[in-house]
Parts: sequence; C-alpha cells; structure tokens
Amino acid sequence: MDFRREAAALMRRNRRTAQGHTFTVPAGGMYPNQWLWDSCFHAIILSHIEPDMAKAELRALFARQLPNGMVPHMIFWRKVVWPPSYSWGLKGTSSITQPPMIAYAAWEIHRRSPDRAFLEEIYPKLFAHYKYMVNERDPVYHHLAGIINPDESGEDNSPRFDAPMRVGPDINMYVHIWKRQALVRANRLCNFEAELCMSKTFWVKDVPFNTILVKNLERFGHIAHLLGHHEGERFAKEHVDLIRGAMRERLFADGVYWSAMGHEYTPLRVATWAHFAPLFAGLYTREEAEAVVKNHFYNESTFRSPFGIRTTSKQEPAYRPKRFWRGPIWMAPHWFMYHGLSAYGFEKEAAWIRERSRSLIEGNGFREYFNPETGEGYGASHFTWGALVLDMEGE
Ligand code: GLC
Repeated sequence: MDFRREAAALMRRNRRTAQGHTFTVPAGGMYPNQWLWDSCFHAIILSHIEPDMAKAELRALFARQLPNGMVPHMIFWRKVVWPPSYSWGLKGTSSITQPPMIAYAAWEIHRRSPDRAFLEEIYPKLFAHYKYMVNERDPVYHHLAGIINPDESGEDNSPRFDAPMRVGPDINMYVHIWKRQALVRANRLCNFEAELCMSKTFWVKDVPFNTILVKNLERFGHIAHLLGHHEGERFAKEHVDLIRGAMRERLFADGVYWSAMGHEYTPLRVATWAHFAPLFAGLYTREEAEAVVKNHFYNESTFRSPFGIRTTSKQEPAYRPKRFWRGPIWMAPHWFMYHGLSAYGFEKEAAWIRERSRSLIEGNGFREYFNPETGEGYGASHFTWGALVLDMEGE
C-alpha cells in the first residue's frame, strides 16, 4: 500500500467547504461536522502534504471561537439530516470543548513550512484559547484544568469516567450518550459556572487533557517567543510549570498518573492508556518512564495486545474489546504514545507502535477503532485518524 498516497486521498475525500471555510470531516457518513481535536490532527497530517489546507483547518476552528476564548468541540457548518444530531447546547456549535491541541498543530505547520504571518494572524486567538483553559477551567487556582463532560476528553465513554458518571462496567452506549446529553443541559442551566455547578455534576481533572495542555502551552510559548510577544511567553512558561507541579502533587501515585474528580481529588483508579499519555509532555522522570514501559507497555495481561496498545487495561472489569473507548485500539492514543516514547528515546517501542498502526490500517482500511484481541476494525470507515501514521514516519 502506498500509505502516503492513500492518506492524502482520504484527506481530500473528507474535505468540505461551507460558509467560506474549508475543513475536513473525520468520516463522511458518521461524522459530518467539524471537531476540534480531529481538526488539529488533520492539520498535523496536512502539514506534511498540503500546508495551505492545514492552515484552513485551524482558521475554520477559530472562526467559531466563543467570546470567552473557548473553541467548541463541534462546529455545525452545514445542516445535516443524518445521523440525527444531539443537542450540544448552542446554535451552530457545541457548548463544550476538547483537548487543546491547536498550538501544537500550528507549530507543526510552521515548522514544516515557515509562515510567520500565519502565526501572527492566529496568535491572539491562541492566547485567548489558552487563557480560557487556565482561568475558566481552574476557578480555584489549583493549576489543573477541569473537564465538564467525558466528551471533552475525546474519549466519550472511557471507563475512567464511570465513577463521576455514576455508571457500572456494563453501561449501554446509548444510555451513556443520553447521560452525557443530560450533563450538557445541566451545565447550560447553571450557565457553566464551574465552581458552583460543575462540581455537582461532572468535574474531572483528566490526565491526558492536562498533559495535552502542558505540551500545547509549551508550543504556544515557542510561538510567542518567535513572534517576540513576551507576555505570552511568560504566561506559557508560568503555566507549564504550575500545571506540571500540580499534576505531580495531585494526580501521581504508584508510578503513574491517575485522573481525579471533584473538590477532594478522588482518584479515578481505572487503568487506561492515560498511564502512557504523560510521556507526551515529558512528565515522567527517566526512571519512571522506564518503569512505565517495562510494567505497562510490555504487559500482555493489561495493555499490550498483538495489534497495539489497548485503551483500557484487560484487567479492568469494564474492559470490552469491541466497545468504543472501553478497550479498543485507537490511532490518536497510538500517535500520542509514539511521540511520547520517541521523545524519551524508546525508539524500538515507538517503531512498534508505528508498525502496528500501519498494519491495522493495511489489513482493515481506515477504520475508526480496532479490536485488540482480533485486529478487526469497527465504527466509521474512511476515518481520518489512521492518516496520523504519516506523522509517525520521522521527519
Ligand atoms: C468520537 C470520538 C471523538 C472524536 C469524534 C469525531 O466521538 O470519541 O474523540 O472527536 O468521534 O471523530
């Protein structure tokens, strides 16, 4: 398979233009809107093949940034008849966000095809977005961003959130969606007052989300430095240090990071790929990272399957190899792990992730997620995330 050619064709197939903006949908039939972290992945992929389209992707996201700086997790550019759309709280966009990957994507675009004017153009929007994250999502100044719905993590029904969602391991996917929708309504009624209302509904300090925030603040700092914006550079440095410190203090136990809920930081002790996510922002010491690789990455009874890394440990009562984020292999976690492992110099392990990812796609097509026990592909077809393998090929 000529991977680069197939990936480029998939990105073109899923490209849409509406209201003067061009963006990519994750999968034509099933996901016909624009999604925040998907578009960042698209921009990273496109930075290798069509930099102008990569920029268009981020411009479209920022075109619907809210006045408070939040970028919604979904933008409804066009009227969609099927699949039926859930109500996400606002007209034209959703009222919740997703992992803040935009600065990372912007930096990748610039790194491959330098364009200072583009960075200047989006800089104020980026700054507003990250200010929103560290101010509005941390009303008590604990230096951890809270999420108000599992969908904000991008891992909609992950068992990491079973306790705060008050559901058991066998929760049905449709009941789960209904409960997430109820959360959207509850937050809207409370006017999204984090301190007053979210703590009563769903208020989680998630490990991948905060890891991604740290890495993106670092990248935002690089952008600010390059453009000579000292205030932004200082802001980034200060918050990178604060969040790293808070994650260490409040989320680290027994050699790994655990998400936590509520004001008391009750640990959510469900083993998921969130153990590996912190590698992406260098949050483990060298020794800790070696232990994570040895004890978890290579552990076939928990995470490692013949086809890749399970998103939920096989030992968890909630582990379900066919159920969305409750076990299957997904390409975005693989991509985060690839870069995390590479950054620590675990070249052999990173190459294994790349090779497993590629062979899943070669065997099944660009499917949405994969059964870790059989390699079978599930969910949407022509799903863009598989094209992230292009960004695992080194430079
Ligand atoms: C699913 C995924 C989410 C993604 C969306 C669009 O909801 O869980 O992470 O953003 O699909 O691809």
